[in-house]
Amino acid sequence: MSESRLSVEGLCIAAGRVPLVEGVSFSLRPGHTLALVGESGCGKSVTSHAVMGLLPPPLSVAAGSVKLDGMELLGLSPDGWRAQRGRRIGMVFQEPMTALNPAHTVGDQVAEAVRAHGGASRAEARDRAIALLAEVRIPDPARVAKEFPHRLSGGMRQRVVIATAIAGGPAFLIADEPTTALDVTVQAQVLALLGRLQAEKGLGLLLITHNLGVVAQSAQEMAVMYAGRIVEQGPVRGIFRAPRHPYTRGLMRAVPGALGRKAPLEGIGGMVPSPGPQRWAGCAFAPRCGMALPDCTTAAPPLREHSPGHAAACFRSHEMAA
Ligand SMILES: Nc1ncnc2c1ncn2[C@@H]1O[C@H](COP(=O)(O)OP(=O)(O)OP(=O)(O)O)[C@@H](O)[C@H]1O
Ligand SMILES: [Mg+2]
Repeated sequence: MSESRLSVEGLCIAAGRVPLVEGVSFSLRPGHTLALVGESGCGKSVTSHAVMGLLPPPLSVAAGSVKLDGMELLGLSPDGWRAQRGRRIGMVFQEPMTALNPAHTVGDQVAEAVRAHGGASRAEARDRAIALLAEVRIPDPARVAKEFPHRLSGGMRQRVVIATAIAGGPAFLIADEPTTALDVTVQAQVLALLGRLQAEKGLGLLLITHNLGVVAQSAQEMAVMYAGRIVEQGPVRGIFRAPRHPYTRGLMRAVPGALGRKAPLEGIGGMVPSPGPQRWAGCAFAPRCGMALPDCTTAAPPLREHSPGHAAACFRSHEMAA
């Protein structure tokens, strides 16, 4: 039997006529983590929402495909999406506070997710919910199941959200900034939990983050987005060793130690451009790029492979050694 795969090909997302995401391609494999990184507003969340069939109007997919084991998901009916969502692809949303309903106990909410995916009775779903709370390492799960979300710490709440995301036994999990709202020690615990669940269940994980430390620790593959496009993509080790896009290198320069102990620490000047009806003619990063040439503002560099599986969209990437 061929390996299960979630593949995104040439995905374009627009808000009405305004393009937000253009030509994004990646694929997830069981047991592997792909990190999707980039500054705020570059299109990480809308990409993940499109993969889940959850784009809110006026956003829509303008082109591309999302295939699960070869089956096209885009264009599925609402019932068709419901059969895949949660059951084949789980999602941990960016805001843990809004992911849980304050009016229901956490046990009821996890049990509800269990019942949504199969014909469990109420009693079976309640038992399964407690087992899921134990799986996400919540101490004394039978007691915690009776609590309301506001009684739990941020880390415990995020564990509950992860329990609901895996309730349907998905093969793939998308985690959108799963630790951003948490303090550092709790972040490490939640990442360790995701890593353990992934290993135990062989999950294919799409981990959205702007923390490159998290990428280095948790992912094998990475894709760097800038202004709605992937500008660099490939194995984490190869990219950390020799980034091929000035934006990736800029992100790494802002992280202590990412480019070696002696590399100077600096941020990237300027801001991500806001989406607008007119796309740039050239590379969207050119206005912030210390390496930009006149050509960079007139033509957009295509994503080109430099070594097997490692691609970058920069006219000068061949000049960039570590
Ligand atoms: N409902 C919407 N209507 C119009 N534009 C939207 C909508 N949702 C998002 N956008 C725009 O799409 C772009 C991408 O947003 P997105 O939320 O995907 O960014 P992100 O990479 O997830 O950022 P962050 O790191 O802050 O979560 C942004 O310019 C945002 O303003
Ligand atoms: Mg986001």
